[in-house]
Amino acid sequence: MEIRILTESEQERYENAILAMLTEGDAEFVPPLSTRTSTTQSDLNGKMKGTGGVLSYFAAVKKQRILAATEEDKLVGFVSFKENFVDERIGEEYLPNIYISTLLVAPEGRGKGLTRRMYEVLFAEYEHANVFTRTWSTNEAHIKILSKFGFETMLVLKNHRGNGIDTVYFKKCIRSF
Ligand SMILES: CC(C)(COP(=O)(O)OP(=O)(O)OC[C@H]1O[C@@H](n2cnc3c(N)ncnc32)[C@H](O)[C@@H]1OP(=O)(O)O)[C@@H](O)C(=O)NCCC(=O)NCCS
Repeated sequence: MEIRILTESEQERYENAILAMLTEGDAEFVPPLSTRTSTTQSDLNGKMKGTGGVLSYFAAVKKQRILAATEEDKLVGFVSFKENFVDERIGEEYLPNIYISTLLVAPEGRGKGLTRRMYEVLFAEYEHANVFTRTWSTNEAHIKILSKFGFETMLVLKNHRGNGIDTVYFKKCIRSF
C-alpha cells in the first residue's frame, strides 16, 4: 500500500478513480453527495436534489489537494482537503490550517486501519498546522477515528442534516485558542 499526497499530474491520473469511488459511496454520506453542490456548503438538509449525480461535488473535490492510498496503482482510499481554509466558523486566527472535506475508503479496504494510516501521513505532513473537519453525528466510524487522533468538538449544529442528525465540527490545534 502506498499512501501519499498526490502531485498535480498524479491527481489528474486518478480523477476517474476518484469519481468512481464518489459515485459508489454517494449514498453512504449523510446527506448523499449527489444532493450537495460543494464540499463546504452550509445547507445540508438534503432537500436539494442535484441532477448530475456526484458531479458537482466531484468538481469541488478536484480543485483540492488529495491524499491517496493506492495498491498496485488502484485507488483504495482518499482524503480531500483544503490548505488555509477560512470561513465564518474557522477564522483567520486558525491559520495555518487544513480543512478535511472528504474521507472515503473503498468497501474492500475498510476495517484495516487504512484511515488511521492516511491520517498519520497527512498530520505528519501538516504537523505545524491546525486541522479541521466536520461530519454527521451518527458517523460512528469517523468520529471514533477523530477522537483517537485527539480532535475536539468545536461546534454542533443541531438537526442540521435532518431530524436527530447534527453536523459536528472538529478541530485539532497546535496551540490552545
Ligand atoms: C469512515 C471510513 C473512512 C473508515 O474507514 P476505515 O479505513 O475502515 O477505518 P479504520 O479501519 O481506520 O477504522 C478506524 C476505527 O473506526 C472503527 N470503525 C470502522 N468502521 C466502523 C463502523 N462502521 N462503526 C463503528 N466503528 C467503526 C474501527 O473499528 C477502528 O477503530 P479501532 O482502531 O478501535 O479498531 C469508511 O467507513 C468510509 O469510507 N465510510 C463512508 C464514507 C464516510 O463516512 N466518510 C467520512 C465522512 S466525513
